[in-house]
Amino acid sequence: MNGTKLTAGITALGAYAPDRIVTNHDLERMMDTSDEWITTRTGIKRRHVAADDEFTSDLAFAAVDDLLARHGDDALAGVDMVIVATNTPDGLFPATAALVQERFKLQAGAFDLLAACPGWLYALGVAKSLVEAGQCKRVLAIGAEALTKIVDWNDRSTAVLFGDGAGAVVVEAVPAGFGIRSMVMGADGSGAHHLHRKAVGKCLPNGEPLADSLYMNGREVYKFAVRVMNTATIEAVEKAGMTTEDISLFVPHQANLRIIEAARERLRLDPERVVVTVDEYGNNSTASIPLALRHALDGGRIAAGDNLLLVTFGAGLSWASSVLTWGPR
Ligand code: UT7
Repeated sequence: MNGTKLTAGITALGAYAPDRIVTNHDLERMMDTSDEWITTRTGIKRRHVAADDEFTSDLAFAAVDDLLARHGDDALAGVDMVIVATNTPDGLFPATAALVQERFKLQAGAFDLLAACPGWLYALGVAKSLVEAGQCKRVLAIGAEALTKIVDWNDRSTAVLFGDGAGAVVVEAVPAGFGIRSMVMGADGSGAHHLHRKAVGKCLPNGEPLADSLYMNGREVYKFAVRVMNTATIEAVEKAGMTTEDISLFVPHQANLRIIEAARERLRLDPERVVVTVDEYGNNSTASIPLALRHALDGGRIAAGDNLLLVTFGAGLSWASSVLTWGPR
């Protein structure tokens, strides 16, 4: 390094959602629910569900394939670290990231990152630090989730909410004026009991069996989400030395349209400045923001120089937020 401070940014992005779609009407046939309830309480209309033989690594591969299709074969040249943020790894070890490293034949380190739904934004934060410290040149940061495999399909209060998917970005040094301007990562473990999946076999403190599915106290998480979407957003904007007026596009975690709307209203943002994909994908956790970014890019809603505000929350309880200036490409 020559002493000039590096700024890391996203230079390539790809995403993937499985082909299988489950609509609210499909769910009406499977459990005591209705399209009307799901739509009015969450904004979700459909979710993409991994095939029976499709796992988190497959979703991650597909997101990277999409990134290569969009940006060319050189997009992964020189990637020296792979991070996969996931709550549903193929196994506890080896890291799912190592499977990505092997599939794309990268000369890279590889590790998984577990930070619930904010995991991908945490991964972006770690990637930024690795690049700006000069430790890594290019980091492949992935969020990949096969959540529907750990959903309790007998619990209507959670089963209707989740979907599967993956998103992948390359993070590297970008010219001045672009890149990640602020990063906020927070957690409050006092709310750990509101959203969890118990640990495996002998790791459990009380010798309880592995919980096969997740548990969520939706109402408590909802209250937390509305609060933290607001505070984390303001913190990220202030840390970037900006105001919400400087934000071109708000790209929130896609868990519930009511949570997004509450944040939008509190932040006084016009609907045109907010990306909403929860109707199409449901909540696919770590894949949610990169999928929303791809959606916005494909819709021509992001141009070089735009300031984007990313914000997310989830189990932990935890949250993350970031302001980044898109570009240079
Ligand atoms: O990224 C992870 C973060 N997680 C979240 O973002 C979830 C945050 N929480 C939420 O989004 C909302 O709390 C939910 C969508 C999960 C629930 O919405 P709510 O308005 O908080 O509903 P509720 O839990 O208070 O339940 C209201 C009623 C209950 O019936 P009673 O007790 O009032 O008779 C539930 O049994 O709705 C019932 N209910 C359903 N009815 C039809 C719960 N789930 C369903 C369902 N279909 N799928």
